[in-house]
Amino acid sequence: MSSTMGTGTPVIEVRNISKSFGTVVALHDVSMAVAPGKVTCLLGDNGAGKSTLIKVLSGVHRPDEGTILFNGEPVEFRSPRDPLDHGIATVFQDLAMVPLMSIARNFYLGREPRRKWGPLPMWGPLKRLDLAKAAEVTRRELHNMGIDVRDTSQTVATLSGGERQSIAIARAVHFGARVLILDEPTSALGVREAAIVLRYIVLAKRRGLGVVFITHNIHHAFPIGDAFTVLSHGRSLGTFAKGEVSERELETMMAGGTEMDQLAAELTELLEADDAQLTIE
Ligand SMILES: Nc1ncnc2c1ncn2[C@@H]1O[C@H](COP(=O)(O)OP(=O)(O)OP(=O)(O)O)[C@@H](O)[C@H]1O
Ligand SMILES: [Mg+2]
Repeated sequence: MSSTMGTGTPVIEVRNISKSFGTVVALHDVSMAVAPGKVTCLLGDNGAGKSTLIKVLSGVHRPDEGTILFNGEPVEFRSPRDPLDHGIATVFQDLAMVPLMSIARNFYLGREPRRKWGPLPMWGPLKRLDLAKAAEVTRRELHNMGIDVRDTSQTVATLSGGERQSIAIARAVHFGARVLILDEPTSALGVREAAIVLRYIVLAKRRGLGVVFITHNIHHAFPIGDAFTVLSHGRSLGTFAKGEVSERELETMMAGGTEMDQLAAELTELLEADDAQLTIE
């Protein structure tokens, strides 16, 4: 995979995607390509269409118009199962894990290790055997990504938000994902925890995965992004390679330049008004 890094065909690409919900145009003519071994950041303000775009990529929504290409070939995703079968793993912020299940169970959710000759028994020594294997693989895989959990039988509810996101990423890597889509994985996290999740994103990239990283925090995106696609009110403002655009420029684009200027002016006015009031009293 590393031979095609950055230069070859995008592993996944959307072309001219449009999607409306009734009269709401969530996406209009949006295109984006994800290269293997690269982090493509999908940026934009609330309601810009980011989640809708990745729901198109993860088979949750079918686009009204446009094409999805996988390794250069047009594909149609009819259900969330289809992208998974292509190795496209999506980590949704709140649905990443089942809190009351163990770490190992979550790691294998939907992909429980089975004996070759039949389904997993519901009880008995063979079940224990497979659970032991699950625990061992989970621990090893997490360790390989620098996550050390004391006990993989502890419930996910005992983990921090950052640890949950990290485990979801490790799981996608372990099961051979070629594309990893992360919807706002760092938005609910503190600075230190966000840094840990960003580190795992870089590790996934180094393993050759194409990563789509959605955020509205430019300070999280800028250091690790190779390309930046900015959405605004359902339209793409373009895709910019690293080095082609500054952090400040991206931030201005995300906020909609004129809207930000207007807000700054209003705030200045408000502060001046307060000052005036203070001096009167
Ligand atoms: N299932 C739906 N039904 C109706 N409208 C929807 C649906 N999903 C999204 N929308 C609308 O489409 C627009 C884009 O929403 P989307 O969730 O894609 O934005 P976003 O960029 O992910 O925003 P945020 O940063 O707040 O997560 C919004 O106006 C939203 O209200
Ligand atoms: Mg969203």
